Amino acid sequence: MAKEQKKIILTGDRPTGPLHLGHYIGSLKNRVKLQNEYEQYIIIADLQALTDNAENPEKVQKNVIELGLDYLSVGIDPKVSTIFIQSLIPALSELTMYYLNLVTVAQLERNPTVKDEMRQKGFGNRVPAGFFIYPISQVADITAFKANLVPVGADQVPMIEQTNEVVRAFNRIYKTNVLIETAALVSDVPRLSGLDGKAKMSKSLENCIYLSDTPDVVKEKVLRMYTDPGHVHVKDPGKIEGNVVFEYLDAFDLEKKKVAELKENYQRGGLGDIKAKEYLFEVLEDLLAPIREKRKEFAKDPAQIMKIIKKGTAKANEKASQTLKEVKEAMGLVY
Ligand code: TRP
Repeated sequence: MAKEQKKIILTGDRPTGPLHLGHYIGSLKNRVKLQNEYEQYIIIADLQALTDNAENPEKVQKNVIELGLDYLSVGIDPKVSTIFIQSLIPALSELTMYYLNLVTVAQLERNPTVKDEMRQKGFGNRVPAGFFIYPISQVADITAFKANLVPVGADQVPMIEQTNEVVRAFNRIYKTNVLIETAALVSDVPRLSGLDGKAKMSKSLENCIYLSDTPDVVKEKVLRMYTDPGHVHVKDPGKIEGNVVFEYLDAFDLEKKKVAELKENYQRGGLGDIKAKEYLFEVLEDLLAPIREKRKEFAKDPAQIMKIIKKGTAKANEKASQTLKEVKEAMGLVY
């Protein structure tokens, strides 16, 4: 198939910290898998990151290259995927302004992900306005590339629904079809729990295994993972429901038969937590060791990474500018 005919993916992350196993299983894996089949754009969403980090621009700036490094290390291939920086694409901010007129405040208030985040971040009545409207900036990201598919974690599904609402409103009001509806691609593995088993893996909860963690750190984290508190002696029967070790084996071990055997053994009694955790550590290392190796190689030359991102940004800028032009024409903003 010629490159022009390929369907388009637009996806990405906020540069606020290193990516973790939840990101890997939730979306990175799909992005790596699909990158040859689709024309893939990956946004380093620094504008979005600033919506709750206005006082921390250094943090955002520092994490732009770290995120690029994470992408390259997991196997995103810059020859086929286009990695770019959001703030270097003016069309994205401009589209956001036009789209803001097509949604109501009430609609924005209903976004469940934003609601959760506002609660988690404890904004109270001091929600930054930019944060409140970031879903619309994300609509601009997605529509600017006319993306057919968005591989993201389950928490991002409301953003896709919001995108399609704006697309329909825009096309209806301006009697056009320049914008296209999109679809979320969510992993078939349910959202990964954190090490403590209490909540989903999330940086702000400090319950993560990062893709860039050293083997020692990974081991230490696996050893303190939540299991079954009632499973005291090796010979005791243990529970696998809510047991983070088995949840991770389900998510990461490709040998399903082996996992089934271990589960049976654990439930029957006779499989100790330490043994199960040592096995999980090996499974995780099979995934993480090659990522770590690649990371080490790429990290030697940060200038090269920036070059890759800048080149991607130039390509992304052309595509987004073209859409902006069509959008303005549809609205009759041609002077
Ligand atoms: N909201 C995403 C996150 O929290 C980041 C993001 C910004 C994004 N723009 C996007 C994801 C467009 C998919 C598509 O990580």
